Amino acid sequence: MQKIALCITGASGVIYGIKLLQVLEELDFSVDLVISRNAKVVLKEEHSLTFEEVLKGLKNVRIHEENDFTSPLASGSRLVHYRGVYVVPCSTNTLSCIANGINKNLIHRVGEVALKERVPLVLLVREAPYNEIHLENMLKITRMGGVVVPASPAFYHKPQSIDDMINFVVGKLLDVLRIEHNLYKRWRG
Ligand SMILES: Cc1cc2nc3c(=O)[nH]c(=O)nc-3n(C[C@H](O)[C@H](O)[C@H](O)COP(=O)(O)O)c2cc1C
Repeated sequence: MQKIALCITGASGVIYGIKLLQVLEELDFSVDLVISRNAKVVLKEEHSLTFEEVLKGLKNVRIHEENDFTSPLASGSRLVHYRGVYVVPCSTNTLSCIANGINKNLIHRVGEVALKERVPLVLLVREAPYNEIHLENMLKITRMGGVVVPASPAFYHKPQSIDDMINFVVGKLLDVLRIEHNLYKRWRG
């Protein structure tokens, strides 16, 4: 079973991280999950749900505490065995910490380790509009080999529901790691 690390932070769109988690479980990945304290607040605010409710029934998920720097995810020799690291959604706070090498929690450390070990790192940054600091930090991540994906659904596939829009964005995230899926219809020009 292949391993993936998924970090969920307190930007709007926590639902993208939850959908990604569910799809990875269906695709038989083993997921190491880190949830920031603020992600729990946003989930409550946006969906009136707790992570305990969301995680019920998921079998291949291992949870790591936000402040547990003894986690295997904090170690390069362990993280190199992962297919990739997702931060979905990624707040501008977490973006800034990863881009500038600041480790205030395990999520920032996982981002740092992924960059130093060249483990694929994918950030779904959600903010609107962006200021210069956000743009500079996204450029830094890109220059270091990470991939920044905007939380923007497209409309050419004619979404009929919010689910369709979420699936499009999650499909784009899977594309980055070359994971096969049928979450959205590809453009046929
Ligand atoms: C309802 C709600 C929505 C938020 N949406 C965003 C957002 O879209 N993008 C963002 O960068 N921060 C957003 N924030 C602010 C972050 O939660 C805050 O910056 C926090 O420090 C992020 O911490 P974390 O990176 O450890 O999760 C939101 C906060 C709340 C309460």
